[in-house]
This record gives sequence, structure tokens and C-alpha cells, in this order.
Amino acid sequence: MALLLLLVTLASCAATPQDLARKMFTFPEATNTGHVKLLTTKQDLSAVTVCLRSFTDLRRGHPVFSLATSLASNDFLIFKLDASDLFDLWARDKKAEFALQGYKLNTWNAICSTWDATSGLIQLWVNGKPSSRKFVSSGSNIIGPMSIVLGQDSYGGGFDINQSFIGMISDVHMWDYTMSSCEIQNYSDELSFTLGNVLNWNALDFQITGRVLIEDKQRIC
Ligand SMILES: *[C@@H]1O[C@H](CO)[C@@H](O)[C@H](O)[C@H]1NC(C)=O
Ligand SMILES: *[C@@H]1O[C@H](CO)[C@@H](O)[C@H](O)[C@H]1NC(C)=O
Repeated sequence: MALLLLLVTLASCAATPQDLARKMFTFPEATNTGHVKLLTTKQDLSAVTVCLRSFTDLRRGHPVFSLATSLASNDFLIFKLDASDLFDLWARDKKAEFALQGYKLNTWNAICSTWDATSGLIQLWVNGKPSSRKFVSSGSNIIGPMSIVLGQDSYGGGFDINQSFIGMISDVHMWDYTMSSCEIQNYSDELSFTLGNVLNWNALDFQITGRVLIEDKQRIC
């Protein structure tokens, strides 16, 4: 009996991956609590690609994708700056700024970023359009248990209501290598691409805290 109870308890703790195809996370309000934690078992990344779609009318700064470890609070961060069409990309607590890639408010934007520890170069794609390749940090991997958060920036530990994300996020994938420019364009154009092997929207392990909803993505008829 005790063993059965233990097994039931373990089973309810273990994350069950969900297929979120054609779904989105809706972040409907500014809070310093609401967020989604994305779970992965990977603990050593020598390269990264992250792709997702984001929809918002926010004109202030906000995180798009935030990955922290105990060694670096901005270990991999895509941050939209308040000024229009400016992004900061961070790897290993170092950042580069990117400008004018055609990011638009009130529409879905496909946002991808790649980085690798050998060259130290980081790059941004907005709706399939590549940026310059810029140096941020080389020679060390992203290591240890990863805290990956959507909806908040975990910089410094706590959450800041003035940096919360309001809007919708969908199609989140993360890979442990730099994806080819062709495949990133395929992702952006909703053609075929290799599903993420660190995070996979079609089999996602996640935990929601606060008012974040899973809804059907609205289609234009
Ligand atoms: C958020 O912004 C408002 C308005 O600018 C300010 O009054 C408040 O102190 C800020 N809150 C935090 C936690 O920074
Ligand atoms: C891009 O998509 C096309 C059409 O679905 C497919 O034929 C091609 O193999 C894809 N390219 C890559 C690099 O995945």
C-alpha cells in the first residue's frame, strides 16, 4: 500500500510532455508572478538555437526567452528593448545589441537566435531575416541545471512587474547546436524543420505559475 502511494506520488510529480501544436501561451496581465517554466534534462550546451513566435503590443523592455543557471543569470537571454525594433541578445552574461530587423507590434513575429561557444558568435533572426553576426562570449559552455522562463526575466533572482511579458508566445523550440540559416527560414515560413532536442513545442515539459493560459492559436479566416 505504501509502495503504491509512493508510486502514485512519483507519477504525479513527473512532468508529462504535452503536444502544444496550434496552441499558444497567453500572458494576459502585468504581474511579477505569472510565468511558464520550461523543463529540460540537458545540462551542458556548447551551442544553442532558440526559435519561438511572440505577439505583443509592449513598447517597454521585456524578456522574450530567459535561461539562467547558477553560474550566469543571463546565460541565454533574448530581450526586446523599449525602443522600437531593438533587441539585446545575451550568452554567458555578455550581450550584443541588434537593430532594425522588421519586428512589428500586434502581429506574430518569428524570433530565432543562435550562439556557439567555439566562435562566441551570436545572431538574431526576425521573421527569417538574419542579423549581423556578433561576438559575445567564447570558450565556456552553458552548464548546470537550467532555469528557463517565459513571461518574466529572472535576472537577479526575483521577478520585476515592469519587465513582465504581456501577450502570447507559441512554437517554442530549442536545439543544442546552431541550426542552418535555411532551416531557420523554414521555421519562420512554417515549412518543415527539425523539432527541438532541448525544448520541443510538440512534446513540451513545463510548469505554469499564475495567470497564464493555454489557448488555441487564433487563425485569420
Ligand atoms: C514599476 O513602474 C512603476 C511606474 O513607473 C513604478 O512606480 C514602480 O515602482 C515600478 N515597480 C518596480 C517593482 O520597479
Ligand atoms: C525546408 O522546407 C522544404 C519544404 O518543406 C523542405 O523540402 C526542405 O528539406 C527544408 N529544408 C531544411 C533545411 O529543413
